[in-house]
Amino acid sequence: MAEMGEFLRDLWYMPALASSLAPGQMRREMLLGEPLVLGRLKGGALFALRDICPHRGVPLSAGRVLPEGSVECPYHGWRFKPGGQCTKIPSLTGSEDLKAESIKVRAYPVREQDGLIWVYMAARPGSEPKNEPPRPGVSHPMRWTETQRFACGIDHAVIGLMDPAHAAYVHDHWWWKRKARLKEKHYAPLANGFVMTAHRPSKPAYRILGDVTTEITFELPSTRFETLRSRLLGTDVKVVGLTVCTPRDSENTDVIQVFWWPAWLNFIYPFFWALGRTFIADDRKIVELQKEGLKFSPQLMLIQDSDQPAIWYHRVKKAWTESVENGTDFVNPVQERILRWRS
Ligand code: FES
Ligand SMILES: [Fe+2]
Repeated sequence: MAEMGEFLRDLWYMPALASSLAPGQMRREMLLGEPLVLGRLKGGALFALRDICPHRGVPLSAGRVLPEGSVECPYHGWRFKPGGQCTKIPSLTGSEDLKAESIKVRAYPVREQDGLIWVYMAARPGSEPKNEPPRPGVSHPMRWTETQRFACGIDHAVIGLMDPAHAAYVHDHWWWKRKARLKEKHYAPLANGFVMTAHRPSKPAYRILGDVTTEITFELPSTRFETLRSRLLGTDVKVVGLTVCTPRDSENTDVIQVFWWPAWLNFIYPFFWALGRTFIADDRKIVELQKEGLKFSPQLMLIQDSDQPAIWYHRVKKAWTESVENGTDFVNPVQERILRWRS
């Protein structure tokens, strides 16, 4: 398997939930190995700046959010606007040549939507986003969420989650077990990834939602949507799950999962409460174990159809990297296909 060390750029990453930042709060967030200060002005607007004061390197996150709508460094009180512009250097007398406005700290485009915070990691600082963050297409608030830190780079976190052959071993719980069967799933390319098109899931646990279909998408950098649809009590039901792998640095990745469903469907909450955390923990523990092997930089394998999503992931990633580096359009290398495996 090719080593793909570098993080993908010109994409949106999801470092935090919107509810985790109250007005006037900020904190340091590592993202792609870069320190960011992610915060919310007293008026509610979000900002994301490089968390290194351009004066002498103190983290801005250790300072204050001022009511005027700027961030104050705790060392010498320089102030910065959400756009990165320095607006005040208290030590200046007014007679110097230096203008505070000529100094900037890197600002990252940030969006708040669907209860999520997205940050755009541009290849070239200051460039405008090429697109908008993905959306779940629901009108109600999120009902369930779980975050766990995986001790691995983004690639192993992503591949572990899209791998269809591990469930019987990694998620080996009596309530989830079933005999291995031949699976045949239809896949098609998407703008920045691929989709396992809508089908009836074989796991009995899904029947809590009636006669359900599921569709699972994956798009760069690590956005996986699972959309469940059914009819229950004469009503159309839609449950959407989002899983992202947010790389903090090359050895730590947060797996963040969020589910949305309509309020009247809240009877499924205990199911998520009981099982959701366990499921992600299973995946977390196996990559911790995997680390014991990866220490020795072994050659790894991706085999046949059961590893085809992982193979596509690497190909899509490579094509994206080339498009960003060369300034050309991204061409998705994924072809429509049926994959067959036993699980
Ligand atoms: S280090 Fe930030 S103001 Fe001096
Ligand atoms: Fe898993």
